[in-house]
Amino acid sequence: VIKGFAFDMDGVLADTARFHTIAWRKIADEVGTTWTKELEEGLKGIDRMGSLALIIAAGGHENEYDQTAREALAEKKNTNYRELISKLTPADILPGMQNFLDELKLSVASASKNAPFIIERLGLDDYFKAVVDPASVSAGKPDPAIFSAAAAVLNLKPEQVIGLEDSAAGIKSINGAGEISVGIGDATVLAEADVNFDQTADVTLNAIKEALDKK
Ligand code: BG6
Ligand code: MG
Repeated sequence: VIKGFAFDMDGVLADTARFHTIAWRKIADEVGTTWTKELEEGLKGIDRMGSLALIIAAGGHENEYDQTAREALAEKKNTNYRELISKLTPADILPGMQNFLDELKLSVASASKNAPFIIERLGLDDYFKAVVDPASVSAGKPDPAIFSAAAAVLNLKPEQVIGLEDSAAGIKSINGAGEISVGIGDATVLAEADVNFDQTADVTLNAIKEALDKK
C-alpha cells in the first residue's frame, strides 16, 4: 500500500532548472565548453561538483582545472544562482504541485544544498516531514542513497513510497531504492520511470493511481 511520496525539488516542485542553466552556462563559457541541450539535460539531478565536472569534461578541459580551481568555479556558480533564487515566491511553484501537495504526506529528496532555502521561499515547509540533506548520504543521484533516506525519514518501506523526478539520474536513484518512480517530463529521457507525465500540471493522486493500474 502506498503511504508516502518523496519529491525531487528542482524541476518538480520549483521552477529553478532555468536558473541552474543560466548560472552554469556562464561557467561553461568561461571554461570554453560549448553549451548543448544534451549537456543541459545531463546536468539535471547531478550535484554541484558533479555538474561542474561534466561541464569541464564536455569541452575536454579536465587537465586545466585542479581541485582548488574547481571549487572556485562552483562557488562562483552558486553565488550567481543564489542571486537568481533570492527572489523566488510561491508563484514559482510548478503548475499543479500546490494542489497535489494538499493531498499528501511527504519528504524531499533533492541533490541541492539550497533545497531548505528554496522550499522556504516557496512557502512549502509545512508540507514536508523532512528535506534530506544531500551531504548526509554516501553518494549523489543516480545512487539510490538519497531516495532510500527519503523513505526512511517517513518511517516507510521503499515499496510504500512513490518518488517524483524530472531527471534520468533521479529516476535511476528511485528505482535503485526499490520505490515506484514517477517521471515528469520527456518520456524518452525518463524511459526507465514506472509511469510518466509530460508536465507537473498533469500530476494528481488519481492520475498516478490510474497510470499504475494500467501497467
Ligand atoms: C539538483 C539540480 O536538484 O541539484 C542540479 O537538478 C543541481 O542541477 C543540484 O546541480 C545541486 O544543487 P545546488 O543548489 O546544491 O548547487
Ligand atoms: Mg530535478
